[in-house]
Parts: sequence; structure tokens; C-alpha cells
Amino acid sequence: MRCRECGYYSPRWLGRCPGCGEWETFVAEASGKQKKTTKAAGGSPTAVPIPLNTIPVDEESRYSSGIAELDRVLGGGLVPGSVVLVGGDPGIGKSTLLLQSAHHISRFSPVLYVSGEESGLQVRLRAERVGTLDPNLYLASETDIEVVEQHIEALKPRVVVIDSIQTAFYSELAAVPGSVGQVRECTLRLTRVAKTTGIPILLVGHVTKEGLLAGPRTLEHMVDTVLYLEGERHHSFRILRGVKNRFGSTNEIGIFEMTAKGLAEVANPSRLFLTSGSKPVSGATVVSSLEGTRPLFVEIQALVTPTGFGNPRRMTAGVDYNRVILMAAVLEKRVGLGLSNQDIYVNAVGGAKLMEPAVDLGIALALASGFRDVPLEQGVVVIGEVGLTGEVRPVRGIDQRLREAAKLGFRKAVVPEANRGDLSFAGMEIEVVSTVARALDQLMRS
Ligand code: TYD
Ligand code: MG
Repeated sequence: MRCRECGYYSPRWLGRCPGCGEWETFVAEASGKQKKTTKAAGGSPTAVPIPLNTIPVDEESRYSSGIAELDRVLGGGLVPGSVVLVGGDPGIGKSTLLLQSAHHISRFSPVLYVSGEESGLQVRLRAERVGTLDPNLYLASETDIEVVEQHIEALKPRVVVIDSIQTAFYSELAAVPGSVGQVRECTLRLTRVAKTTGIPILLVGHVTKEGLLAGPRTLEHMVDTVLYLEGERHHSFRILRGVKNRFGSTNEIGIFEMTAKGLAEVANPSRLFLTSGSKPVSGATVVSSLEGTRPLFVEIQALVTPTGFGNPRRMTAGVDYNRVILMAAVLEKRVGLGLSNQDIYVNAVGGAKLMEPAVDLGIALALASGFRDVPLEQGVVVIGEVGLTGEVRPVRGIDQRLREAAKLGFRKAVVPEANRGDLSFAGMEIEVVSTVARALDQLMRS
């Protein structure tokens, strides 16, 4: 019996896992055989100690995945011998992304795409949608991990894609594919293949309803890199995020748009999150959110209407509910806006998700503008965190945000007074503000 959360082993079923404290997480696995093979993994012949300084370092040895946004999230490309797990909800585009990458790499060297979920014909039809097929792209509709290992041995591909790890199984284990024991064992075996051959292996992993990768949490510990592909089903853009990366930063994100020809890289992602309307409307502002090293610009819209009956309603999409409540309270107390009997709805355009505090000031201004029904100035990006006294607090990466904003054609930026010292960029009109009240005065002069 093994805990599906943390992989804790127990000879019998336990209601509560002593390892992680979760309830009812124990599931069966064929433990006897598992032990044997695990031991074999530790005893592989390459495990001879060698002086660390004799191991060659070669940044050039990373391979490009053929997709710039994917390379960025990987930290510069695929590292030889690494195992990368790509997780995400079903239907979000994991297979499409990895097939596209496989397709790019196969123009130069053979790639093995192992599909346990779809037939050869299905994969072919999909591959044809995303580009012309290269004879170097090999497909195996296979779920038996030992057969997959033989294929890798025979083909010696440059890169292997396993779609998905939940369909792979090791025939010596009694457990069903997708169970803890199977997922662990198959990942372990593939990790060994990657380390001994130097071939990078990309694994697709589905996310369960609880938001975890199906299978044990330990899967995340076993691989070198964990990436999540996320997005809203009703919006076309997708964000690839690093959750763990032994070879790079996890701050970077990759942005894609799902098109009829697969996932397309988005050169200017902010256009997805800005409405193109040229008429000024009340309740709308543009904020900046720094995702890794890349500033994103997103329009925020607030609708403020008198409450008809009962308690006022507050609803948010794409922005933090609690931050919105907080901003409403700050406006009420520090600026004197009577928001307590108003319904408040706040949206981030395009299905973006904004978690950074630097969007506070933008939310506050959108609320005030929506309440007074006075539009804010056009072409302005609003940057700043807001404290409980209504003070505007400094944000990180101010110069980077301004440079990018200027490139996108914003005319003016509202920035925290406290960031004045960090300002070296002078390519646009800049207004420094110290409090929310001051910011309102400066932007709602009309
Ligand atoms: P898929 O890669 O199969 O998702 P996953 O492997 O994460 O389950 O993506 C499936 C969705 O993507 C499907 O709903 C259709 C859509 N799609 C496109 O819009 N354009 C395309 O070119 C492709 C291949 C898929
Ligand atoms: Mg798939």
C-alpha cells in the first residue's frame, strides 16, 4: 500500500497517512516486484563516482525544442538526459504542444512519439494539421513500457515523447495503468533510460480533478522539470508555466494561442488582453503584471451599480477577489466613495489571471471610474500596489514594464512615487503618485 499523495509505504491500509497527514490516500500496488526493480535502478553501471570537475559542461549541448516559448520555459532548451513532465487539464493542448515540438526536432534528427491514448491515424491527422510530416518522426502506439524501451534502443532518437505517462504500464506489475505503482515504476524506468542514453524524454501527465497530477506526488520529485500548460477552455490562449526546473528558473512563462493549425507562439501577448475600443468608457484601465521577466499588459474592467435588493454583490474574474474587496474598502475609507451599497463586478479581459500586487492601483482606479461613471484617460498604463492607508507602494521591475509599455504604444504611465529612484527610462510621459486619492485627482480631471 502506498500513499497517493506522498508515496509513503505501508504494508497495510491506513486511514490517515503518517507521511503527509492526508486521509484515505492509500492505494494498492504490487510491492514485492516493485522493490526488486527499484534496486536494479540504483545499481546501473554508470553510477561509478567520478570527480565533479571532470564532468564536461556544455551549455551548447541543450537542444532547441523548436518552439521558442517552450525553450524559454525550459531555461534555454532541452538538457540531454533530462526528463520533463508536461501537466495540464485534458484537452488543454499538451499533445498538440509536444507533437509540434517533436515535429520541429524531426526535421534534423529522428524523434519517437509514443502515444498510448490515440491511434496512429489520429496522431497522423493531428500532425498534418500542425505542419507537413517528416519521415524522421516515428510513432509508436504502445503502452508497454518494456516495448517502448526496446523502441528507444533500436531507433536511438534525439528526443522521446510519452503521451501519456498514465497509459504506460509495466507488465510485471499487477496494478492497472495509471495507478500509483505503475506511474512510479514507468517513470523510474524512463528516467533510467534518459540518464543512461542522454536522450531527453518528455512525459505528458494528466491533472486529476483535485488539481494534482494523477499518480503520486512523488512523480514531481522523480523528474527534472515540471511544466504546466494552463488556460481557460473558452479562451484561445494558453500559458506554459515552470513549476520545477533543475536547469533553469521557474519564473518564466510561455504564451501560446490555440489556432486551427495547433499552438502558435504569441509575439505580443498583451494584444490578447486589451480591448481595441477607441472610445473612452468608464470603469476600464490597463494594468501591468510581471510574469517572470516579461511584463504583460491587461485591461481591467469594473462595473459598479447600485444594489437593488439585499446584500451587495461582489464578483471577480481573473483578479483576486480579496484584493478587490480590499480596494473597495480603501476607496470607501480613504477617498470617501460610497461603495458599500453598490454591486461590484471586476473582470480581467481575455481570461488572464492576475495575481501580482502591482495591479492594485489599476483595480482601485477602475472601481472609482466605474462608480463615478467618468472614463479615465486613454492610453495610460497604471502600475502600483496599494496599502491599507491608501498609500501607493513600489513595485519591482518598473523600468522593464515601462520599456515594454512604450513599445506597445502606451502614451503615459502612472507609477508609484516610491519607485521614482528606479526610473531611468524616459521614453514616455510618467506621472508619479503617492496615494490612491492623488492618482484619482490626476487621472479623472475631465
Ligand atoms: P490536445 O493536445 O489533444 O489536448 P491534451 O493532450 O492536453 O488532452 O488538444 C485538444 C484540443 O485542442 C482540442 O479540443 C482541439 C484543439 N485543437 C485546435 O484547436 N487546433 C489544433 O490544431 C489542434 C491539433 C487541436
Ligand atoms: Mg492528449
